[in-house]
Amino acid sequence: MSTAHVHDDTDLDPDDLLSVGEVSRRTGVAVSALHYYESLGLIAAQRTSTNQRRFPRHMIRRVSLVVIAKRLGIPLTTVSDLLAPLPMDRMPTRREWQRISRAWKTTLEERRRTIESLEAELVGCIGCGCLSMKACRLLNPEDQLGEQGPGAHRVE
Ligand code: FES
Repeated sequence: MSTAHVHDDTDLDPDDLLSVGEVSRRTGVAVSALHYYESLGLIAAQRTSTNQRRFPRHMIRRVSLVVIAKRLGIPLTTVSDLLAPLPMDRMPTRREWQRISRAWKTTLEERRRTIESLEAELVGCIGCGCLSMKACRLLNPEDQLGEQGPGAHRVE
């Protein structure tokens, strides 16, 4: 029985150095995106003895983290902050990935709560139509205008 060949990093020698094209082929991430990730410090290449830029194979794991973050809608700046403390000369450990995934879960939970709150407020607007700067929770979430006292307030 034959099995399909999957292009992951398990069929590579640990000392393999990959061209940006090879990293692109193995991760499905466009070469232009990889260059962008490199400019952000998310991944890093090294020079060979013949002065060619090559990526250590463990960079595939860092690219995988970025791919997951993008699926979750995590901004690249946040990804950069989380990956910054991780050494570039080895792949992220299981413990490091757990710490990062927990942080992203917290981010998703916060986002879900925000969406649920906005949805509840929007439901209150359905059929209302007042668009009141004072009464509508979506227009005046913290009752900021109320804190400014009575009377007309400038709309920013
Ligand atoms: S439009 Fe009336 S409460 Fe939002």
